[in-house]
Amino acid sequence: RIAFVNGEFTPLSAASIPVMDRGFLFGDGVYEVTAVIERRFADDDAHLTRLDRSLREIDIPNPYSASVWTEIERDLARRNGLENGLIYIQVTRGVAERNFQYPTGLAPTIVMFPQFKRVQDNPIIETGAKVVTLPDQRWSRCDIKSTSLLAQVLTKQAAQQAGANEAWMVRDGSITEGASSTAFIVTKEGQIVTRRLSSAVLPGVTRRTIMKIAHGMRLDLVERNITPDEVLTASEAFYTSASTIAVPVVAFDGQTVGEGHPGPVFQTLYKTYLETIM
Ligand code: PDD
Repeated sequence: RIAFVNGEFTPLSAASIPVMDRGFLFGDGVYEVTAVIERRFADDDAHLTRLDRSLREIDIPNPYSASVWTEIERDLARRNGLENGLIYIQVTRGVAERNFQYPTGLAPTIVMFPQFKRVQDNPIIETGAKVVTLPDQRWSRCDIKSTSLLAQVLTKQAAQQAGANEAWMVRDGSITEGASSTAFIVTKEGQIVTRRLSSAVLPGVTRRTIMKIAHGMRLDLVERNITPDEVLTASEAFYTSASTIAVPVVAFDGQTVGEGHPGPVFQTLYKTYLETIM
């Protein structure tokens, strides 16, 4: 695999970052993950817009314009022969003596690499996923796509140990989001529900596209909090992310969701999403 590190393309196995990088010492950085499906970059502009916003929120200068980012992404995909997979982008504050406060004028560290995977052929789309609830242990700026992911690492690991594919995190009695995805339910009345955007959740790019599709199909859509109890009485549940598109939820805290198999609203949205980006 070929990586892109600070302006150079280099074999990933040989790529290295100084130990004094603030990304390593403090998790002082942000990232993006974009899916590549049959050579098409899914929602790329929205990912680059969110990268710019995340950087702005933590006072790291964006090293490139969106068009330069796009060019580097295409070049990276071409050099790797990447037709299906993910592009990972990380920008950290840079290298400095270890101090919590950062000096001005640091050169950000830029790392990009591909992951090979057919996002669109995930067998879980057919079987459905198991989800468990776990406490949301994160900080109060979850709208920033920060590389400080310790809470999500521990939460995902706990979910896996509980035999689940994803955790839906709960704060103050409501589900905030998945550990690495956005949570949706479809009520018995056919209303699609997801939490409204705030600093409690990441503004999911896939969330936005799925909502646009639902809106275009004149489906009933509402943004409000969801409680774990509501998932159990919902007719469907699913979660969205760049690395999975959308995944139907068939079991929630050990109980069956809806009919116990991927539901029609999920299937329509998933199919239309793939058609939209092709
Ligand atoms: N995660 N919420 C959280 C906490 C996430 O980490 C992610 C994505 C999402 C979905 O956002 P989007 O649709 O823009 O990918 C929501 C990525 C895929 C990851 O960490 O690998």
